Amino acid sequence: MDQFKNPSKYVEKILLNEETILQRVQELGKQITKDYQNKDVLLICVLKGALVFFADLIRDINIHFDFDFVQLSSYGNSTQSSGNIVFLRKPLIDINDRDILVVDDILDSGLTLSYLKSYLLSKNPSSLKICVLLNKVSHRIQPIEVDYIGFNIPDEFVVGYGLDFNDMYRGLRYIAVLKDEN
Ligand code: IMP
Ligand code: MG
Repeated sequence: MDQFKNPSKYVEKILLNEETILQRVQELGKQITKDYQNKDVLLICVLKGALVFFADLIRDINIHFDFDFVQLSSYGNSTQSSGNIVFLRKPLIDINDRDILVVDDILDSGLTLSYLKSYLLSKNPSSLKICVLLNKVSHRIQPIEVDYIGFNIPDEFVVGYGLDFNDMYRGLRYIAVLKDEN
């Protein structure tokens, strides 16, 4: 498909280039390393979108950690959250008494992370923090506090660096806004 051979044809503008992303990810890794000194953190990556961010971030976290994955579904194939959230995969490692850091790609309506947060809190972790690469500041439906934010971005649909449109564009090294005709 042309989207894979020629992604730049479909891109309206590049919001964050590779260098900018990686530099910020490094800063986040340093901060997390500092904040979790002497703790045994369990990192939870929210599939699929956070996978690329997660893979880079963990290589900048220089303390001992375990990690696990969760996957939730709310979007179907559209660009708007349905609000109807279900787990496709729950964490396999026991949450009880652990220091949990959830890592997600983007905070948009807040519905997914709020749902995940209540689920995890019901399993009695000793602490729970959230790290997102991107924060769409003006699009919140469900208010939620996050502890680490990579970038605040405007309310536009973005792809790349793990984020998709209908499962396309996840492999781009940059984060971009798509052209309208997609
Ligand atoms: P929320 O429940 O609306 O906060 O959305 C959470 C999930 O929707 C994110 O983890 C993404 O997977 C997806 N999502 C939200 N906005 C975008 C976007 O601009 N591009 C790609 N995926 C998005
Ligand atoms: Mg996601």
